[in-house]
Amino acid sequence: MKNTEQHFYDEAKNWDFSDIKRTDESLTDWDMAAIINKLAKKSFRILDLGTGGGEKVLNCFPNVKEILGTDFSEAMIETARQNLKKSGRENISFRTMDNLNMDTQDEYFDMVVARHTCIDPVQIYRTLKPGGFLIVRGVDMMDCFEIKRLFGRGQAFRDKIPISHIDYEAILDAGFKDVELVPIHTREYYHAPEDLFALLNRVPILEDFSETDPEEDFLHHEIEPDLFEKYVAEHTTPKGILLIRRYYGITARKP
Ligand SMILES: C[S@@+](CC[C@H](N)C(=O)[O-])C[C@H]1O[C@@H](n2cnc3c(N)ncnc32)[C@H](O)[C@@H]1O
Repeated sequence: MKNTEQHFYDEAKNWDFSDIKRTDESLTDWDMAAIINKLAKKSFRILDLGTGGGEKVLNCFPNVKEILGTDFSEAMIETARQNLKKSGRENISFRTMDNLNMDTQDEYFDMVVARHTCIDPVQIYRTLKPGGFLIVRGVDMMDCFEIKRLFGRGQAFRDKIPISHIDYEAILDAGFKDVELVPIHTREYYHAPEDLFALLNRVPILEDFSETDPEEDFLHHEIEPDLFEKYVAEHTTPKGILLIRRYYGITARKP
């Protein structure tokens, strides 16, 4: 099987990190779940793009008329369906779809959510009703920069323009209004080296999909033990091993 981005997520099968022990310190007041819950009405139809194992939909989204979670990974959708059964929640379904080749109905959804996944704002605009909301949270260029610099590679490591700016401009170009971009800063403290190691093994922080065609193999690197130990030694604090995260949030509305 090819070692593509899709294969990476098929192998991961879920996006649940509850077994990794860490403490978070948020330096920014931008909470995606709170925004979704504040804006959503009971009558809403919500689309969650790149839903993973449906963890966020099932744990953080409100009860509304309809929620559809989509992902291009069959394995993620299978996990999401199992999680749905266990949750006992209603009016929620999951199916496969490529975010860059959306086949959802025109002017159908009241809200489209995309958390840590790629987007095509033109296709999102088409599937939103007039007045509908777009809520995006992404991983930005400077995310985990210290560790990427030490390893000399990683997600967006060679980017010249922050992903947040690219998304922001594309959302404006697609015709959205009330477009607001907020940088999100978080400090994560991993309780033990094993917790940080587990994270780096499971999320594409030190892998860079963006350097290759989505259909092509990306170059997978094993985590070098000497570099990992150096990072841990240099970033151990009384609160744990520090990893500085840089995310961004965007809210926008279709006129
Ligand atoms: C980092 S995970 C985020 C999962 C979930 N949104 C969350 O925040 O917990 C990214 C998800 O996006 C999916 N994904 C990546 N590219 C995609 C694409 N082009 N179309 C659909 N899903 C995609 C992956 O399969 C993966 O499940």
